[in-house]
Amino acid sequence: MRISFTLNHKPITIDAPPDISLLTFLREHLGMISVKDGCDVGECGACSILLDGMLVNSCQLLAPQADGREIITLEGIHAPDGGPTDLQRHFIDDGAVQCGFCIPGMILAGEALLAQNPTPDRAEITDALAGNLCRCTGYIQIVDAIAATARERHQGGSA
Ligand code: FES
Ligand code: FES
Repeated sequence: MRISFTLNHKPITIDAPPDISLLTFLREHLGMISVKDGCDVGECGACSILLDGMLVNSCQLLAPQADGREIITLEGIHAPDGGPTDLQRHFIDDGAVQCGFCIPGMILAGEALLAQNPTPDRAEITDALAGNLCRCTGYIQIVDAIAATARERHQGGSA
């Protein structure tokens, strides 16, 4: 079926098969390879996207459900000059990235949290990451990176 939506700030109209997941559609039809296929059953968060600003698992939606919505993937998250954002820099600098498989979802989870709660404490950050599994880092550095970004943004830093 023909659907129209916004992908990383660009309007798009395209034929979408009615019976594939939004995860598969984004990866295989639209080249959004930051959206990872980890479990395909809604448990790992590797397929996270922002749908109208809300963090969702794209493996749990069908492609036609994108119609009329605004989708952001990691490909749409960058500083104005095209480089890494402050949050992405903190993930790198604070050692929050190891194999990298979970990181697109973690960055989107962090941005979704900071948009809703600009000054989260560590417990709130941990809660916000509850749906995103990381098998490498132990989460401490990921929480550190989000907390440091929140502090900087609160003090007037920018992406
Ligand atoms: S691939 Fe969607 S939650 Fe794991
Ligand atoms: S960095 Fe490897 S799964 Fe998180």
